[in-house]
Amino acid sequence: MIGIARAHTNIALIKYWGKRDKKLFLPMNSSLSLTLDAFYTDTKVTFDQTLTKDTFFLNNKEETTEKITPFLDLFREKMSSPRFAKVESLNFVPTAAGLASSASAFAALAGAINQASGLHLDTQTLSTFARRGSGSATRSLYGGFVEWNKGTDSHNSMAIPIDDASWDIAMIIIVVNQAKKTISSRDGMALTVQTSPFYQAWVESAEKDLQNIKQAIANKDFITLGEITEFNGMKMHGTMLGSNPPFCYFEPETIIAQQAIRQLRAEGIPAYMTMDAGPNVKVLCQTSTIPTILSHLETLFSKDKLIISKVGKAMHYLTQDDWEQSLQSFEDTL
Ligand code: DP6
Repeated sequence: MIGIARAHTNIALIKYWGKRDKKLFLPMNSSLSLTLDAFYTDTKVTFDQTLTKDTFFLNNKEETTEKITPFLDLFREKMSSPRFAKVESLNFVPTAAGLASSASAFAALAGAINQASGLHLDTQTLSTFARRGSGSATRSLYGGFVEWNKGTDSHNSMAIPIDDASWDIAMIIIVVNQAKKTISSRDGMALTVQTSPFYQAWVESAEKDLQNIKQAIANKDFITLGEITEFNGMKMHGTMLGSNPPFCYFEPETIIAQQAIRQLRAEGIPAYMTMDAGPNVKVLCQTSTIPTILSHLETLFSKDKLIISKVGKAMHYLTQDDWEQSLQSFEDTL
């Protein structure tokens, strides 16, 4: 009873920010993301009747199973002979990236459990399970542009693949600070929902942005796609400034990066920014303009702080040979 899966992380262009049900991870608004090729998690799950408890190894080090065990339980409830599991995960997120890996982590874990358990859940159903680990993991079950439809209940709050994004789309991550964030996205969104007078306006406007961005994707209209992305991300950060107490993820270098993107646009280069629950700036761009954007950004940031990513694929299963190779390439990166 072994399952091995790989899932890539994703960056939301229309953000998920706020839950209407914290236990079930039901979001206030639907969201839409781009799956990234550069960052992924490989996870192996072994259900074994000789085990007396779950174990979890992240990057070859034993960790607590406090988040893993309740997640395994969601699947065990459906299994005819539930067993304890050994979970092994390798995170291929460059250490300098400063990106959260919960999206790829829970999507890969959902895939590996699915295979190990023999439950054969379809991808959309799996996305509803991944959601219960971390909301953004819902979208990492698919590649390209992916919508997380907020749904009406736990069974239909799920991912929908929108487009494979194979039309000259890329992202550059400007690493401003790789330290762990002071306010987690989970706590930050809860405070915003409770206290920000801007919150209701955010929810309404995010739903409009979603409709408009889907139209831009259908038209392969990069400029409109970028404009909506930047508008939506900034509005999310605006809700935080209106929270009580107010909070902000921007750091001085975040502002420098933002100004650089505006400057590039003033020079006619289509590049648009988005930020999540941290100071790093993600630049949505076209593959063809990467060299120009980099040459500008390299005047402000060192090369190792600029990470390029192409579009990532859907969650997929790996063989034992693939797993051995992953272990080897993980060792090589140390
Ligand atoms: C700003 O998915 O990390 O990145 O559901 O509480 O685990 P939990 O939160 P998480 O929040 C992601 C917030 C965001 C926007 C997004 O990815 O949509």
